[in-house]
Amino acid sequence: MKILLTGGAGYVGSACLRWLLNSGHDPYAFDDLSEGNRDSVPADRLIEGDIQDREALEKAMRDTGAEAVMNFAALASVPDSIRLPELYWRINVFGTKNILDAMMATGVKRILFSSTAATYSFDNEMPLTEEAALVPKVPYGTTKLACEKMIQEYSNAYGLSYAILRYFNAAGADPDGEFGEDRHHETHLIPLILQAAVGKRDKITIFGNDWETRDGTCVRDYVHTSDLAQAHQLAVENMKPGEGEIFNCGSGDGVTVQEVLQACENAVGRTIPSEICGRRPGDPAILIASSQKIKDQLGWEPQFPKIEDIVGSAWRWHERYPHGYKDKETVHSQDT
Ligand code: UFG
Repeated sequence: MKILLTGGAGYVGSACLRWLLNSGHDPYAFDDLSEGNRDSVPADRLIEGDIQDREALEKAMRDTGAEAVMNFAALASVPDSIRLPELYWRINVFGTKNILDAMMATGVKRILFSSTAATYSFDNEMPLTEEAALVPKVPYGTTKLACEKMIQEYSNAYGLSYAILRYFNAAGADPDGEFGEDRHHETHLIPLILQAAVGKRDKITIFGNDWETRDGTCVRDYVHTSDLAQAHQLAVENMKPGEGEIFNCGSGDGVTVQEVLQACENAVGRTIPSEICGRRPGDPAILIASSQKIKDQLGWEPQFPKIEDIVGSAWRWHERYPHGYKDKETVHSQDT
């Protein structure tokens, strides 16, 4: 299928593009490279453009003959969203509206949307099913929920098919360590720990050890980007005309921050400097997914559910390319 991936040169989007290519699809990334990386996708698969630019979006949809759009283009940091709600509403919500309107103008009828566990109320019982109450507490979650509602209302009125995938904590790198996480401004746990391991930062700061969890640090459900990519492939191949589905995507295993740090130390083979500080605003104590629905309906089966395998792949990437894609350019220019 011809698929346009907005934000397709970003961390999850590029993993998905590479996966779709290997599965015989015909995917193209549309990305302004503000957070994405040129070298994360083949050069002939990248269309440079901004989701705020309606004309550029429509042109990309027409030029590629897109039959479906997957929207990965978004800002995705909980702490940043609390500081910068205007930016989050503009990029995440107005960007998604632009994409939907460009789809309407060009006749593209299928959309897959990257949503998040941050749409749920943190008072729900764990693991979270798709029916759990939705009461986002931070702008990242409210903007993503607004997009979900917009997609559903467009679907009802204009007959779009949709699949909304609520990711838990996206993590890991390509199993061979050649492609991985590389943002200009990093706030996520695993890359920050591994940056401390390679000496790019002094230490990792642990946000609170007084939570009601088994070791006092927050529990999260880490899901490998290759497994998220598989979920997108299954979802796009199984869409029904005019209908929509929402699926959680997580490994189903809750891991504490201390356990992630320990798994990273095991992968790296040495102690990584850390320090405990206060809780981070907007954090819930525990987030764990039930992904039974996507397993039952689409046959999704995560290949890398274990935190050891997730951080192992991330470490291969960080160890080889401590400065991310910049280092890849250097390695390749030395090769030639
Ligand atoms: N953490 C630290 N130190 C750091 C960074 C993170 O202790 O330097 C902790 C956080 O407090 C949290 C855990 O590590 O307990 C994971 O934090 P991330 O920033 O990596 O990810 P989040 O849990 O904030 O983000 C995730 C998902 C979202 C989801 C959100 C809901 O990526 O999809 O949780 O809070 F919406």
